[in-house]
Amino acid sequence: MKHNDLGFASKIGVIAATVGSAVGLGNIWRFPSVVQSSGGSAFLLVYLGCVLLLGIPVMLAEFSIGRAGRSDAVGVMKNLTPGKKWWILGVFGLLSSYLILPFYMVVAGWSIEYLYQSVTGSLFAGIDFSADTAANSAVFTANMNEFITSATKPVVWTYVMILLNLFILLRGVRKGIEKLSNVLMPILFVILLVFCGISLSLPNAAEGVEFFLKPDFSKVTSDVVISALGQAFFSLSLGMGILVTYSSYFPSDTMMTRTATTVAVCDFFVAVLMGLIIFPAVTSFGLADTPDGLNGTTLVFVTLPGVFTQMAGSQIWAILFFALLFVATITSTVSIAEVSIAFLRDRFKLSRTASCLIILLPLFVTSAICSLSLGAIPELQIAGLSVFDFLDSFTTNILLPISAIGICIYVGWVLHKNFIRDELTNYGAFDSWAAPFVQFLVKYVCPILIIAILVSQLVHLFNQ
Ligand code: PHE
Repeated sequence: MKHNDLGFASKIGVIAATVGSAVGLGNIWRFPSVVQSSGGSAFLLVYLGCVLLLGIPVMLAEFSIGRAGRSDAVGVMKNLTPGKKWWILGVFGLLSSYLILPFYMVVAGWSIEYLYQSVTGSLFAGIDFSADTAANSAVFTANMNEFITSATKPVVWTYVMILLNLFILLRGVRKGIEKLSNVLMPILFVILLVFCGISLSLPNAAEGVEFFLKPDFSKVTSDVVISALGQAFFSLSLGMGILVTYSSYFPSDTMMTRTATTVAVCDFFVAVLMGLIIFPAVTSFGLADTPDGLNGTTLVFVTLPGVFTQMAGSQIWAILFFALLFVATITSTVSIAEVSIAFLRDRFKLSRTASCLIILLPLFVTSAICSLSLGAIPELQIAGLSVFDFLDSFTTNILLPISAIGICIYVGWVLHKNFIRDELTNYGAFDSWAAPFVQFLVKYVCPILIIAILVSQLVHLFNQ
């Protein structure tokens, strides 16, 4: 192994860490709101199609270059095509991961505040448990807005999150990331299943399930397809160098197709479980028509706490849910940060400690700027958006697709024509019926589809 770090120790570790990276705000925070804004049942099958047609092939392309190049997101291209400029592609991934990090740390910090409030019970201060949900929603909304826009609290929690990341990342891939994921991911699945059981047994749950699951193709529009593609990207951690970096730690005998399919299925499963939790709960408690719809923040910090007030044992449910959110975010933040840490270690031969510090310490400033831009210092804007919104939309809508198109072109057209087949069969160790399909998808279908999303995003931006 060219890396100066120990890779993942076990197959379970590979899966747990990669699923840990994939399952995050994308599934819990973003997915239900995209489903809602895309009209519900139109979305799910289109999304599944996007995961299969785009998600898994791009994931396999990233896995293949990561494991074959055994380096960081930029170094893999230097190793696989020495003397050429293809490494610039890796810079896009590196840049997008570093730019999304402050945004992600801030939201992750919110999850700790809400976990803390749930444990102390202050989340429900001022709530009248016998009142209707609308009255309580107003209290939760006011509390959330006050918290998010405050100059101190969210920044402090973001700092706590950065320190936790530092603690894990300093321990390295095997003892830090892999161990964390092995312990936390099973807990996450158990919590999700418990919630799902509860939600499905609520009165009128069937209506919510129908809204989410009963396919209605008349609602499928080009916008639905485009949001499904974007969601698949975000949720599977594509185009950020994350999967390239993680796969450089994969053992050489990792079965790539099986790993990618398992990760995509688990990620999809978590999204579906979230849908099965949210939609029955909101229809059951009559919250489906909230004026703001289900934007991610309102959904997690207003709608769900509102739902918990209607259930016996409100506090326990709140603790479990925010613990779930915390687990989902921390296993994702470490993966995003590891991209830049691996880069410093491999490119500049720095120690893990030095790399972790160089990457994470500036976050104390950048995350604070990101958090303060939400209200305390509204002048902190880029291109008319708060720094917080800018970092999110610029990276997810622009940098991420560019980097993914680059990877498909690189793997499909630049590397030798049997590259994918060799990687997927572990250089002939076994047969793979999937290899020719994946090759075709990566070479032709994925770049065209992703270019379509990118163009539509740009058109949308210019029209705004
Ligand atoms: N895929 C993870 C999520 O859904 C983490 C992530 C977010 C990775 C954004 C890349 C980009 O939250």
